[in-house]
Amino acid sequence: MLVYALPGTLETREADLDLLWEAGATGLEERGDQIRAYFDERLDLSGPLAGGEWLEEAEQDWQAAFKRDIRPVPAGRITIAPPWLADEVPAGQVPLIIEPGMAFGTGHHATTRLAVEALSALDLSGKTVLDVGTGSGVLAMAAAKLGAALAYGVDIDPQTIPVARENAAQNGLSAPQAQFDEGTLGQGQFTAPASHAVLAAQGYDVLVANLFAELHDLLAATYLEHLRPGGELILTGILEERLALVLAALEREGVQNVQVQQDGEWALVTGQKAG
Ligand SMILES: C[S@@+](CC[C@H](N)C(=O)[O-])C[C@H]1O[C@@H](n2cnc3c(N)ncnc32)[C@H](O)[C@@H]1O
Repeated sequence: MLVYALPGTLETREADLDLLWEAGATGLEERGDQIRAYFDERLDLSGPLAGGEWLEEAEQDWQAAFKRDIRPVPAGRITIAPPWLADEVPAGQVPLIIEPGMAFGTGHHATTRLAVEALSALDLSGKTVLDVGTGSGVLAMAAAKLGAALAYGVDIDPQTIPVARENAAQNGLSAPQAQFDEGTLGQGQFTAPASHAVLAAQGYDVLVANLFAELHDLLAATYLEHLRPGGELILTGILEERLALVLAALEREGVQNVQVQQDGEWALVTGQKAG
């Protein structure tokens, strides 16, 4: 069994957990003051994942250990839980069931939680929501569960779309309430299918995007083209040190009522398109 041991805990290394899944980890657990990530092969892990140690260990049932340690994640009115903990979602919370590890967006990253909280703070009844960079589909599904009439998730990575569709099915959500397609915004063009064109023309009520600051800066004008007047913009994936870039972009585009939420080094920005 191959283990990559990184100093830190699931809490202190929270920002790196999805990076480990994306790098191909097949399981994660915390032991003492180390995070242990299980891999099928040795990789050259760099950036925030550098500094760990590769260990060859005797086989053990890591899946059992992982399942034992993972907990449901509350975010606003929603609690995100893996299928085997569905019964542990507290009464009064809206359950969102996501199989961990298949695409970014399990609720274990601060940006996902911040975005679900921001959606949760809105009255989404009957609203239309565009989720740019949907990953596991978590934000579109959260919007649908919070009453949106139509939540449309797009991702540039085609591998995420079947995962998002499977998650939606597991949550009893189907099109048009939660719908997923490969696509993106860019250069003033939306490369998603025709089903989106009508909504794009009249503008969504809410646009949520968990991407990164530089992309928000590039896409700010395009986001607004896809929102109706008065529509809500929710942007996250923003490191605190890059927040000024996003705030400047929103000011440039005349976004109103701009507010910032922070969780550790991560920020989320909300605002409204001028009415
Ligand atoms: C940080 S994950 C967010 C996943 C999920 N929405 C969440 O909040 O947990 C970013 C996702 O955006 C996708 N992505 C990156 N660049 C994109 C782009 N230009 N257009 C659409 N999706 C993009 C990635 O493939 C990835 O699935």
